[in-house]
Amino acid sequence: MQGSANLNLMIKAARKAGRSLVKDFREVENLQVSAKGPGDFVSKADREAERIIKEELRGARPTYGWLGEETGEEAGEDPTRRWIVDPLDGTTNFLHGLPHWAVSIALEHKGEVVAGVVFDAAKDELYYAEKGLGAYMNESRLRVSGRRHMIEAIFATGVPFGGRSTLPATLQDLARLMPVCAGVRRWGAAALDLAYVASGRYDGYWERGINAWDMAAGLILVKEAGGFVGPVREGREIFESGAVIAGNAELYDPLCKILREAA
Ligand code: IPD
Repeated sequence: MQGSANLNLMIKAARKAGRSLVKDFREVENLQVSAKGPGDFVSKADREAERIIKEELRGARPTYGWLGEETGEEAGEDPTRRWIVDPLDGTTNFLHGLPHWAVSIALEHKGEVVAGVVFDAAKDELYYAEKGLGAYMNESRLRVSGRRHMIEAIFATGVPFGGRSTLPATLQDLARLMPVCAGVRRWGAAALDLAYVASGRYDGYWERGINAWDMAAGLILVKEAGGFVGPVREGREIFESGAVIAGNAELYDPLCKILREAA
């Protein structure tokens, strides 16, 4: 795919941050870890990855705004564009030596995500998409799965940690969904959950209590791979509501029906 200059810049930043994270992952026991809240950790690795990405992106596009998990929100001179960045999605996996984490970078224009990159550096899987140009993993075009029956479908989710208020509703979702599908996975990296929906590995994904930086890049991957995304509560903006549903073209509606009845 011949991506735009912005997409190439995002890929360059994601690869550079990924190299730094792979290095830290080999020596994970030496990282200084602190808790941002119950079950919510940050380390030198996250901070360094965000510094690298910010330097690349803001250096090249100084007028764009910024929303990053570790450094928060900064307005840019250009109010129509902002980067949305999670330098290390799946921090808990990373800190436990589990190789399931990713760099996530999205570009938003006038409130819409127009490009996204999710880099699974431990497996060297680079997922990227740009509005209207499709979604890819390394050189291969991505398509969501074609499964049509709930009973053969696998979904992913995130189960809220640290006593979050969205836990009871998520447990209710699981109680409704698990008896009618082939399985639910909780692997601990939302950006990869969405990338896996885009690549057809999962048939759908939902999560309550999720941040824009965890999902922004993954949302465009799913859409450009032929899937659908939406908020759990209809009529609300996905980022603002922090509760998202994604699915292949066949199972998105049935999944929404089950989750929205419980909402
Ligand atoms: C977390 C992961 C996890 C999801 C949480 C996120 P982080 O992101 O994506 O899968 O369930 O909602 O906060 O904290 O590792 O960047």
